[in-house]
Amino acid sequence: MRNLIDILDLSTKEIDTLINTAKDIIEHPAKYSEKCKGKKLATLFFEPSTRTRLSFEAAILELGGNYLGFSETASSSASKGESVGDTAKVVGYYADIIAMRHPKEGAPLVASQKAGIPVINAGDGGHNHPTQTLADLLTIKREKGSFNNLTVGLCGDLKFGRTVHSLILALSRYENVKFVLISPKELKLPEYMKSNVLAKRKIAYEETTSLELSMPKLDILYMTRVQKERFFNEADYIRLKDSYVLTPQKLVNAKADLSIMHPLPRVNEITVEVDNDSRACYFKQVQNGKYMRMALILMLLEVK
Ligand code: CP
Repeated sequence: MRNLIDILDLSTKEIDTLINTAKDIIEHPAKYSEKCKGKKLATLFFEPSTRTRLSFEAAILELGGNYLGFSETASSSASKGESVGDTAKVVGYYADIIAMRHPKEGAPLVASQKAGIPVINAGDGGHNHPTQTLADLLTIKREKGSFNNLTVGLCGDLKFGRTVHSLILALSRYENVKFVLISPKELKLPEYMKSNVLAKRKIAYEETTSLELSMPKLDILYMTRVQKERFFNEADYIRLKDSYVLTPQKLVNAKADLSIMHPLPRVNEITVEVDNDSRACYFKQVQNGKYMRMALILMLLEVK
C-alpha cells in the first residue's frame, strides 16, 4: 500500500507517469469518468483550504467516486481530544483513501501508520505540501517542456512556506537547476533544507533580499504568501507581510518567457494587474492541481 507524505516518496519516473496520466485525463476526460466508481475519498482537513480540498473532491467526483470528510477541526472529534492516529484508523473503515491537512508537521505520516488505507499529505504545518508540488510540476512541464536547466526564484516566506520546501525537494533531482532564494532575513529557507538538500546534492543557490536584482536571471518566479498562521507574534507578521509585491513595473527586466507562479491564496504578493501578463501561471497551477490529484488517486488506488 502506497502513501504520499513527502514528494520524494515518488521517483522521477513515477512523476513522469503521473504527468502523462494527467495529460491524458485533460485530453480524454470521459475515459476516466468511472475509474473510481464505488470508491470513497475522505478529506480530513484540520486547517482551512479552498484549492486543495475542493480539487481533491472534484478529482474523485470526476473519476466517478465520492467523498466524505470535514473541513475544520471543530466539526471532528479531534475537538474532543481524539488523536490523529485514532481518527485515521476510524476513517480507514469508511473510506478507500485519505487526503489530510493538519497544522502539525508529521500528522499525515502518523495517520498513514494507522489508517490501513493510502494517506495523502495535503499540507502539514510549515513542512511539506507534495500535491501542490505535483500541480507545480505539471505547470512547469507544460510551460517549459523540461525540469532541467532552470533558474528558479523562490520569493517571500521561505521559512514557513511548505510549498517551497516540497518544490525544492522535487526540483533538486533534475539537472542544472539553480535556486535564487529571495526573502527577508527573518523568513529565510530553514537550515535543514540548505544543509540536507541543497548542500548535500551540490545544488547551486544564492540568498538575497532583492527581487528586482534577481529578476533578469529567472526562468521561473515562484511567489509565496507570508504565512500569517505560523507566526507567534502579530507585530512581526504585520512588519513582514508586504515585503514583496510583484507589479507590472517590477517585471520590466524579466525574461520574455518567465513563468510567474504562486500556489495561492495570494494576499498582496502579486497585484491583479499582473494577472493580464501572459507569463502569469498561477491559475493554470490551480487547474493542473485537479488533474494531478486525479492521476495520484488512480496510482495510489492501483486503478489501471
Ligand atoms: N495552494 C493551497 O494549498 O491552497 P489552499 O490552502 O486553498 O488549499
